[in-house]
Amino acid sequence: MMVRAAQAKDQAAVVALWQACDLTRPWNDPAADFARAVAGPNSTVMVMEAVAGIVGSVMVGDDGHRGWVYYLAVDPTARRTGLGQQLMAAAEDWLMARGCPKLQLMVRDGNTAALAFYQELGLEPQAVVTLGRFLENKR
Ligand SMILES: CC(C)(COP(=O)(O)OP(=O)(O)OC[C@H]1O[C@@H](n2cnc3c(N)ncnc32)[C@H](O)[C@@H]1OP(=O)(O)O)[C@@H](O)C(=O)NCCC(=O)NCCS
Repeated sequence: MMVRAAQAKDQAAVVALWQACDLTRPWNDPAADFARAVAGPNSTVMVMEAVAGIVGSVMVGDDGHRGWVYYLAVDPTARRTGLGQQLMAAAEDWLMARGCPKLQLMVRDGNTAALAFYQELGLEPQAVVTLGRFLENKR
């Protein structure tokens, strides 16, 4: 097992992992999300690679103020063996190497397993409401 930066050639395997982990939604294009994060200077996707292939991923980005984590995924057959924890440590290392002072992430309503996982890692709920809108049709 090793954590490495994803490359463009990993796209299909990573998107399949996200689908297997129920992280994709109809309003997001996972292939485009992957391509943008891998290509950009302020973001990366890291993957956990086993002999059989990619079994984990985490997307991390530095917006110039905070560090954000997305698409943390561990293959359902490989869970509860510490891989999620290792991927989060890799994301933290990446952000700390850039001097980013804080990691943040969003958890979808009802994802109690993820909340239990993050709580175990010491992440704390923040007293904020996240607002958003898509920008595609703004221009
Ligand atoms: C959340 C996720 C990444 C955790 O990955 P993992 O490799 O199973 O996690 P780890 O083995 O590193 O777990 C570390 C600790 O977190 C806690 N934990 C992990 N999964 C848990 C769960 N489902 N319920 C309760 N606690 C959990 C445990 O304390 C665990 O230690 P233990 O196994 O010794 O009890 C994985 O369940 C997953 O891919 N879920 C689907 C995708 C998802 O929801 N991602 C997060 C989006 S915000």
